[in-house]
Amino acid sequence: MKTYRVTIGNTGQTIDCAGNHTVLEAAVAAGIDYPYACATGNCATCISKLESGKVTLLPRGDAALRPEQIKAGQTLACRARPRSDLSITWLARPR
Ligand code: FES
Repeated sequence: MKTYRVTIGNTGQTIDCAGNHTVLEAAVAAGIDYPYACATGNCATCISKLESGKVTLLPRGDAALRPEQIKAGQTLACRARPRSDLSITWLARPR
């Protein structure tokens, strides 16, 4: 499985994320305090801005990520698998 470089805008860290893992899984494994709650695409706690790169979105609740949010470049870190190197910033309040 190919591994991609994922840059977390909030912390400036760049981590590895395999194409069969979500950005959230890779961030948590790397010790990053990425905001999340359900990790199943329903609560929108992990809502993030995809600054660059491409992701594949796993199934999610319609209310957690609306089509207009996707158009605006937003994504759910717990549902997003990398398809290229990417840069992402979480939009929740800093903790
Ligand atoms: S953590 Fe709940 S939608 Fe991602």
